[in-house]
Amino acid sequence: MDGVPTASLLLRALTGDRPDRPPVWFMRQAGRSLPEYRDLRVGTRMLDACLTPDLAAEITLQPVRRHGVDAGIFFSDIVVPLRLAGIDVEIEPGRGPVFANPVRTASDVARITAVDPGEVAAAAEPIRAAVRAVVSELGDTPLIGFAGAPFTLAAYLVEGGPSKEHLRARAMMHADPAAWHALAGWLAQVSAAFLQAQTDAGASAVQLFDSWAGSLSVADYRAFVAPHSQAALAAVTVPRIHFGVGTAHLLPDMRLGTTADAVGVDWRTPLDEAAAALGPDVTVQGNIDPALLRAPWEVLAAHVDDVLRRGRAARAHILNLGHGVPPDTDPTVLTRIVEHVHATAS
Ligand code: CP3
Repeated sequence: MDGVPTASLLLRALTGDRPDRPPVWFMRQAGRSLPEYRDLRVGTRMLDACLTPDLAAEITLQPVRRHGVDAGIFFSDIVVPLRLAGIDVEIEPGRGPVFANPVRTASDVARITAVDPGEVAAAAEPIRAAVRAVVSELGDTPLIGFAGAPFTLAAYLVEGGPSKEHLRARAMMHADPAAWHALAGWLAQVSAAFLQAQTDAGASAVQLFDSWAGSLSVADYRAFVAPHSQAALAAVTVPRIHFGVGTAHLLPDMRLGTTADAVGVDWRTPLDEAAAALGPDVTVQGNIDPALLRAPWEVLAAHVDDVLRRGRAARAHILNLGHGVPPDTDPTVLTRIVEHVHATAS
Protein backbone atom coordinates (compact mmCIF):
# COMPACT_ATOMS: atom_id res chain seq x y z
CA MET A 1 0.00 0.00 0.00
CA ASP A 2 1.28 3.45 -0.84
CA GLY A 3 1.74 5.75 2.09
CA VAL A 4 2.34 3.03 4.67
CA PRO A 5 5.73 3.77 6.17
CA THR A 6 8.22 0.98 5.52
CA ALA A 7 9.13 1.41 9.18
CA SER A 8 6.14 -0.64 10.21
CA LEU A 9 6.81 -3.58 7.87
CA LEU A 10 8.48 -5.69 10.55
CA LEU A 11 5.72 -5.26 13.10
CA ARG A 12 3.05 -5.81 10.46
CA ALA A 13 4.69 -9.06 9.39
CA LEU A 14 5.04 -10.16 13.02
CA THR A 15 1.39 -9.56 13.76
CA GLY A 16 0.28 -11.61 10.77
CA ASP A 17 -0.43 -8.91 8.24
CA ARG A 18 1.21 -9.41 4.84
CA PRO A 19 2.90 -6.22 3.67
CA ASP A 20 3.49 -5.72 -0.09
CA ARG A 21 7.06 -6.83 0.38
CA PRO A 22 8.73 -8.61 3.27
CA PRO A 23 10.82 -6.62 5.72
CA VAL A 24 14.53 -7.49 5.59
CA TRP A 25 17.27 -7.46 8.26
CA PHE A 26 20.29 -9.69 8.88
CA MET A 27 21.36 -11.60 11.96
CA ARG A 28 24.84 -10.28 12.92
CA GLN A 29 24.37 -7.30 10.60
CA ALA A 30 26.38 -5.34 13.18
CA GLY A 31 29.92 -6.63 13.46
CA ARG A 32 33.03 -7.73 11.70
CA SER A 33 31.77 -7.57 8.11
CA LEU A 34 31.75 -3.76 8.48
CA PRO A 35 35.07 -1.84 8.29
CA GLU A 36 33.50 0.96 10.35
CA TYR A 37 32.81 -1.62 13.11
CA ARG A 38 36.37 -2.94 13.03
CA ASP A 39 37.66 0.65 13.33
CA LEU A 40 35.45 1.43 16.34
CA ARG A 41 36.35 -1.79 18.16
CA VAL A 42 40.14 -1.28 18.09
CA GLY A 43 41.41 -1.47 21.67
CA THR A 44 38.08 -2.40 23.29
CA ARG A 45 37.16 -5.93 24.36
CA MET A 46 33.86 -7.26 23.03
CA LEU A 47 31.97 -7.31 26.36
CA ASP A 48 33.33 -3.91 27.35
CA ALA A 49 32.03 -2.54 24.03
CA CYS A 50 28.62 -4.06 24.80
CA LEU A 51 28.53 -2.27 28.17
CA THR A 52 29.62 1.15 26.84
CA PRO A 53 26.33 2.80 25.82
CA ASP A 54 27.71 5.22 23.19
CA LEU A 55 29.69 2.46 21.50
CA ALA A 56 26.87 -0.13 21.58
CA ALA A 57 24.44 2.45 20.18
CA GLU A 58 26.76 3.54 17.37
CA ILE A 59 27.57 -0.07 16.37
CA THR A 60 23.85 -0.90 16.32
CA LEU A 61 23.18 2.03 13.97
CA GLN A 62 26.05 1.36 11.52
CA PRO A 63 24.37 -1.41 9.47
CA VAL A 64 21.02 0.42 9.44
CA ARG A 65 22.65 3.48 7.89
CA ARG A 66 24.79 1.49 5.48
CA HIS A 67 22.33 -1.14 4.24
CA GLY A 68 18.96 0.55 4.74
CA VAL A 69 17.57 -2.58 6.44
CA ASP A 70 14.02 -2.50 7.79
CA ALA A 71 15.08 -3.11 11.42
CA GLY A 72 18.03 -2.65 13.73
CA ILE A 73 19.19 -5.44 16.03
CA PHE A 74 20.69 -4.28 19.29
CA PHE A 75 24.46 -4.77 19.41
CA SER A 76 25.23 -6.90 22.44
CA ASP A 77 25.82 -10.60 23.11
CA ILE A 78 23.91 -13.51 24.61
CA VAL A 79 26.43 -13.70 27.50
CA VAL A 80 26.08 -10.02 28.52
CA PRO A 81 23.36 -10.75 31.12
CA LEU A 82 25.63 -13.44 32.62
CA ARG A 83 28.39 -10.84 32.99
CA LEU A 84 25.79 -8.56 34.62
CA ALA A 85 25.01 -11.42 37.03
CA GLY A 86 28.66 -11.34 38.13
CA ILE A 87 29.80 -14.43 36.22
CA ASP A 88 33.42 -14.43 35.00
CA VAL A 89 33.01 -14.62 31.21
CA GLU A 90 35.01 -13.23 28.30
CA ILE A 91 34.57 -13.49 24.54
CA GLU A 92 37.75 -14.75 22.93
CA PRO A 93 38.17 -13.48 19.36
CA GLY A 94 37.81 -16.30 16.85
CA ARG A 95 36.50 -18.66 19.51
CA GLY A 96 33.49 -17.32 21.43
CA PRO A 97 32.34 -17.13 25.06
CA VAL A 98 34.70 -18.67 27.64
CA PHE A 99 33.83 -19.10 31.34
CA ALA A 100 36.45 -19.16 34.11
CA ASN A 101 34.34 -21.59 36.18
CA PRO A 102 32.22 -24.07 34.21
CA VAL A 103 28.89 -25.04 35.85
CA ARG A 104 28.95 -28.84 35.97
CA THR A 105 27.69 -30.09 39.33
CA ALA A 106 24.63 -29.50 41.50
CA SER A 107 26.76 -27.35 43.81
CA ASP A 108 28.01 -25.26 40.84
CA VAL A 109 24.36 -24.75 39.89
CA ALA A 110 23.48 -23.78 43.47
CA ARG A 111 26.35 -21.27 43.48
CA ILE A 112 25.29 -19.39 40.37
CA THR A 113 21.53 -19.59 40.91
CA ALA A 114 22.06 -17.91 44.31
CA VAL A 115 22.37 -14.66 42.36
CA ASP A 116 18.98 -12.94 42.23
CA PRO A 117 17.99 -12.28 38.58
CA GLY A 118 16.73 -8.94 39.90
CA GLU A 119 20.39 -7.96 40.16
CA VAL A 120 20.69 -8.35 36.39
CA ALA A 121 17.81 -5.94 35.92
CA ALA A 122 19.45 -3.46 38.29
CA ALA A 123 22.84 -3.76 36.57
CA ALA A 124 21.34 -3.37 33.08
CA GLU A 125 21.39 0.45 33.05
CA PRO A 126 24.10 0.58 30.31
CA ILE A 127 21.82 -1.61 28.18
CA ARG A 128 18.80 0.64 28.74
CA ALA A 129 20.88 3.76 28.03
CA ALA A 130 22.20 2.33 24.75
CA VAL A 131 18.73 1.21 23.63
CA ARG A 132 17.24 4.63 24.40
CA ALA A 133 19.95 6.31 22.32
CA VAL A 134 19.41 3.90 19.41
CA VAL A 135 15.64 4.22 19.44
CA SER A 136 15.75 8.00 19.36
CA GLU A 137 18.13 7.90 16.34
CA LEU A 138 16.19 5.20 14.47
CA GLY A 139 12.95 7.14 14.30
CA ASP A 140 10.43 4.96 12.47
CA THR A 141 12.77 2.00 12.00
CA PRO A 142 12.06 -0.61 14.69
CA LEU A 143 14.76 -1.98 16.98
CA ILE A 144 14.83 -5.70 17.75
CA GLY A 145 16.08 -6.69 21.20
CA PHE A 146 17.39 -10.19 21.83
CA ALA A 147 18.59 -12.75 24.33
CA GLY A 148 20.07 -16.22 24.32
CA ALA A 149 17.73 -19.12 25.08
CA PRO A 150 18.46 -21.11 28.25
CA PHE A 151 19.77 -24.18 26.37
CA THR A 152 22.21 -22.26 24.17
CA LEU A 153 23.51 -20.34 27.21
CA ALA A 154 23.81 -23.59 29.18
CA ALA A 155 25.66 -25.19 26.27
CA TYR A 156 28.47 -22.63 26.86
CA LEU A 157 28.19 -22.42 30.64
CA VAL A 158 28.28 -26.15 31.38
CA GLU A 159 31.04 -26.81 28.87
CA GLY A 160 32.98 -23.69 29.91
CA GLY A 161 33.26 -22.58 26.27
CA PRO A 162 32.22 -23.46 22.72
CA SER A 163 31.63 -27.15 21.94
CA LYS A 164 30.41 -29.14 18.95
CA GLU A 165 27.71 -31.39 20.38
CA HIS A 166 27.02 -29.72 23.72
CA LEU A 167 27.38 -33.12 25.35
CA ARG A 168 27.87 -31.94 28.92
CA ALA A 169 24.71 -29.79 28.93
CA ARG A 170 22.67 -32.58 27.35
CA ALA A 171 24.12 -35.09 29.80
CA MET A 172 23.14 -32.95 32.82
CA MET A 173 19.48 -33.18 31.75
CA HIS A 174 19.53 -36.93 32.32
CA ALA A 175 22.21 -37.29 34.99
CA ASP A 176 20.70 -34.68 37.32
CA PRO A 177 17.34 -33.39 36.05
CA ALA A 178 16.75 -31.29 39.18
CA ALA A 179 20.05 -29.44 38.72
CA TRP A 180 19.33 -28.99 35.00
CA HIS A 181 15.89 -27.48 35.64
CA ALA A 182 17.28 -25.21 38.36
CA LEU A 183 19.97 -23.96 35.97
CA ALA A 184 17.69 -23.56 32.94
CA GLY A 185 14.99 -21.89 35.05
CA TRP A 186 17.53 -19.37 36.36
CA LEU A 187 18.92 -18.73 32.87
CA ALA A 188 15.36 -18.09 31.66
CA GLN A 189 14.93 -15.42 34.34
CA VAL A 190 18.27 -13.83 33.49
CA SER A 191 17.46 -13.72 29.76
CA ALA A 192 13.99 -12.40 30.60
CA ALA A 193 15.55 -9.55 32.59
CA PHE A 194 17.84 -8.74 29.64
CA LEU A 195 14.89 -8.75 27.21
CA GLN A 196 12.84 -6.55 29.55
CA ALA A 197 15.68 -4.03 29.88
CA GLN A 198 15.63 -3.67 26.08
CA THR A 199 11.84 -3.47 25.68
CA ASP A 200 11.49 -1.07 28.65
CA ALA A 201 13.95 1.24 26.87
CA GLY A 202 12.06 1.08 23.55
CA ALA A 203 12.85 -2.11 21.58
CA SER A 204 9.77 -2.92 19.43
CA ALA A 205 10.23 -6.69 19.11
CA VAL A 206 12.56 -9.38 20.45
CA GLN A 207 14.34 -12.44 19.16
CA LEU A 208 15.35 -15.41 21.31
CA PHE A 209 18.43 -17.17 19.90
CA ASP A 210 18.51 -20.91 20.59
CA SER A 211 21.33 -21.39 18.12
CA TRP A 212 22.33 -24.85 19.36
CA ALA A 213 18.86 -26.36 19.97
CA GLY A 214 19.30 -28.44 16.81
CA SER A 215 21.48 -30.85 18.80
CA LEU A 216 18.46 -31.93 20.88
CA SER A 217 15.98 -34.75 20.25
CA VAL A 218 12.31 -33.75 20.10
CA ALA A 219 11.68 -35.57 23.40
CA ASP A 220 14.52 -33.77 25.22
CA TYR A 221 13.52 -30.44 23.68
CA ARG A 222 9.98 -30.82 25.02
CA ALA A 223 10.92 -32.09 28.47
CA PHE A 224 14.00 -30.04 29.29
CA VAL A 225 14.14 -26.94 27.10
CA ALA A 226 10.86 -25.62 25.64
CA PRO A 227 9.24 -24.66 29.00
CA HIS A 228 12.27 -22.57 29.95
CA SER A 229 12.50 -20.85 26.54
CA GLN A 230 8.78 -20.13 26.75
CA ALA A 231 9.23 -18.55 30.19
CA ALA A 232 12.03 -16.29 28.89
CA LEU A 233 10.05 -15.11 25.85
CA ALA A 234 6.73 -14.76 27.69
CA ALA A 235 8.34 -12.16 29.98
CA VAL A 236 7.86 -9.43 27.35
CA THR A 237 4.73 -8.12 25.69
CA VAL A 238 6.17 -7.05 22.32
CA PRO A 239 6.12 -9.41 19.27
CA ARG A 240 8.55 -12.33 19.59
CA ILE A 241 10.78 -14.23 17.15
CA HIS A 242 12.31 -17.60 18.08
CA PHE A 243 15.35 -18.82 16.13
CA GLY A 244 17.47 -21.97 16.04
CA VAL A 245 19.93 -23.70 13.70
CA GLY A 246 19.41 -27.28 12.48
CA THR A 247 15.94 -27.31 14.02
CA ALA A 248 13.84 -28.75 11.15
CA HIS A 249 12.66 -31.53 13.50
CA LEU A 250 11.75 -29.02 16.22
CA LEU A 251 9.94 -26.32 14.22
CA PRO A 252 6.37 -26.93 15.48
CA ASP A 253 7.63 -27.08 19.08
CA MET A 254 9.57 -23.84 18.61
CA ARG A 255 6.28 -22.04 18.40
CA LEU A 256 6.22 -22.59 22.20
CA GLY A 257 2.45 -22.88 22.31
CA THR A 258 1.50 -19.53 20.84
CA THR A 259 4.30 -17.58 22.53
CA ALA A 260 6.39 -17.04 19.37
CA ASP A 261 4.87 -14.81 16.68
CA ALA A 262 7.58 -15.83 14.22
CA VAL A 263 9.94 -18.78 13.94
CA GLY A 264 13.39 -18.34 12.38
CA VAL A 265 14.42 -21.09 9.96
CA ASP A 266 18.00 -21.92 8.96
CA TRP A 267 19.06 -22.43 5.31
CA ARG A 268 18.50 -26.19 5.33
CA THR A 269 14.69 -26.19 5.27
CA PRO A 270 12.83 -24.51 2.38
CA LEU A 271 10.43 -21.92 3.81
CA ASP A 272 7.35 -23.48 2.17
CA GLU A 273 8.14 -26.75 3.97
CA ALA A 274 8.76 -24.86 7.21
CA ALA A 275 5.43 -23.05 6.81
CA ALA A 276 3.63 -26.35 6.27
CA ALA A 277 5.22 -27.77 9.44
CA LEU A 278 4.43 -24.65 11.47
CA GLY A 279 0.81 -24.12 10.45
CA PRO A 280 -1.07 -21.08 9.21
CA ASP A 281 -0.90 -18.73 12.19
CA VAL A 282 2.80 -18.04 12.48
CA THR A 283 5.24 -15.81 10.55
CA VAL A 284 8.47 -17.33 9.18
CA GLN A 285 11.88 -15.63 9.18
CA GLY A 286 14.86 -16.60 7.01
CA ASN A 287 16.54 -18.16 5.19
CA ILE A 288 19.21 -17.06 2.67
CA ASP A 289 22.12 -19.52 2.83
CA PRO A 290 25.11 -17.51 4.19
CA ALA A 291 27.38 -19.52 1.86
CA LEU A 292 25.60 -17.99 -1.15
CA LEU A 293 26.80 -14.51 -0.13
CA ARG A 294 30.03 -15.46 -1.91
CA ALA A 295 28.32 -16.58 -5.12
CA PRO A 296 28.10 -14.44 -8.28
CA TRP A 297 25.26 -11.90 -7.94
CA GLU A 298 23.03 -13.66 -10.50
CA VAL A 299 23.24 -16.91 -8.51
CA LEU A 300 22.58 -15.13 -5.20
CA ALA A 301 19.70 -13.06 -6.66
CA ALA A 302 18.03 -16.22 -7.98
CA HIS A 303 18.39 -17.79 -4.52
CA VAL A 304 16.91 -14.69 -2.82
CA ASP A 305 13.98 -14.76 -5.26
CA ASP A 306 13.42 -18.45 -4.48
CA VAL A 307 13.44 -17.71 -0.73
CA LEU A 308 10.92 -14.87 -1.31
CA ARG A 309 8.68 -17.13 -3.41
CA ARG A 310 8.69 -19.94 -0.85
CA GLY A 311 8.14 -17.45 1.98
CA ARG A 312 4.75 -16.61 0.47
CA ALA A 313 3.50 -19.99 1.72
CA ALA A 314 3.49 -18.58 5.26
CA ARG A 315 1.05 -16.01 6.66
CA ALA A 316 3.93 -13.50 6.48
CA HIS A 317 7.69 -13.59 5.88
CA ILE A 318 10.64 -11.64 7.30
CA LEU A 319 13.63 -11.97 4.97
CA ASN A 320 16.90 -12.76 6.73
CA LEU A 321 19.81 -15.15 6.45
CA GLY A 322 19.54 -18.70 7.72
CA HIS A 323 22.22 -17.84 10.33
CA GLY A 324 24.47 -14.85 11.06
CA VAL A 325 26.48 -12.79 8.57
CA PRO A 326 29.91 -14.47 8.24
CA PRO A 327 32.69 -12.06 9.35
CA ASP A 328 34.41 -12.09 5.92
CA THR A 329 31.26 -11.13 4.00
CA ASP A 330 31.58 -8.30 1.46
CA PRO A 331 29.11 -5.81 2.99
CA THR A 332 28.20 -4.39 -0.44
CA VAL A 333 26.52 -7.75 -1.15
CA LEU A 334 24.20 -7.24 1.84
CA THR A 335 23.29 -3.73 0.65
CA ARG A 336 22.54 -5.16 -2.79
CA ILE A 337 20.17 -7.76 -1.31
CA VAL A 338 18.28 -5.01 0.55
CA GLU A 339 18.01 -2.92 -2.64
CA HIS A 340 16.83 -5.98 -4.56
CA VAL A 341 14.12 -6.78 -2.01
CA HIS A 342 13.03 -3.16 -1.74
CA ALA A 343 12.55 -3.12 -5.52
CA THR A 344 10.48 -6.35 -5.42
CA ALA A 345 6.81 -6.29 -4.49
CA SER A 346 5.51 -9.67 -3.30
O1 CP3 B 1 23.04 -9.71 15.18
C1 CP3 B 1 23.62 -8.66 15.52
O2 CP3 B 1 24.12 -7.87 14.68
C2 CP3 B 1 23.60 -8.24 16.98
C3 CP3 B 1 24.67 -8.65 17.76
C4 CP3 B 1 24.91 -10.07 18.23
C5 CP3 B 1 26.19 -10.51 18.60
N1 CP3 B 1 26.10 -11.75 19.15
C6 CP3 B 1 27.42 -9.71 18.46
C7 CP3 B 1 28.71 -10.40 18.45
C8 CP3 B 1 24.03 -11.12 18.51
C9 CP3 B 1 22.54 -11.20 18.26
C10 CP3 B 1 24.79 -12.17 19.09
C11 CP3 B 1 24.22 -13.42 19.57
C12 CP3 B 1 25.11 -14.56 19.83
N2 CP3 B 1 26.32 -14.57 20.48
C13 CP3 B 1 24.74 -15.89 19.55
C14 CP3 B 1 23.46 -16.32 18.91
C15 CP3 B 1 23.46 -16.06 17.45
C16 CP3 B 1 24.29 -17.01 16.64
O3 CP3 B 1 25.21 -16.52 15.96
O4 CP3 B 1 23.98 -18.21 16.65
C17 CP3 B 1 25.81 -16.72 19.97
C18 CP3 B 1 25.88 -18.21 19.84
C19 CP3 B 1 26.78 -15.87 20.58
C20 CP3 B 1 28.06 -16.27 21.22
C21 CP3 B 1 29.20 -15.64 20.51
N3 CP3 B 1 29.57 -14.34 20.68
C22 CP3 B 1 30.03 -16.20 19.49
C23 CP3 B 1 29.96 -17.62 19.00
C24 CP3 B 1 30.90 -15.19 19.06
C25 CP3 B 1 31.92 -15.24 17.94
C26 CP3 B 1 33.32 -15.39 18.41
C27 CP3 B 1 34.28 -15.18 17.23
O5 CP3 B 1 35.15 -14.32 17.35
O6 CP3 B 1 34.12 -15.86 16.21
C28 CP3 B 1 30.59 -14.04 19.82
C29 CP3 B 1 31.24 -12.73 19.68
C30 CP3 B 1 30.43 -11.71 18.99
N4 CP3 B 1 29.12 -11.42 19.27
C31 CP3 B 1 30.89 -10.84 17.96
C32 CP3 B 1 29.81 -10.01 17.64
C33 CP3 B 1 29.82 -8.87 16.65
C34 CP3 B 1 32.30 -10.81 17.40
C35 CP3 B 1 33.13 -10.00 18.33
C36 CP3 B 1 34.31 -9.39 17.66
O7 CP3 B 1 34.13 -8.40 16.93
O8 CP3 B 1 35.41 -9.90 17.91
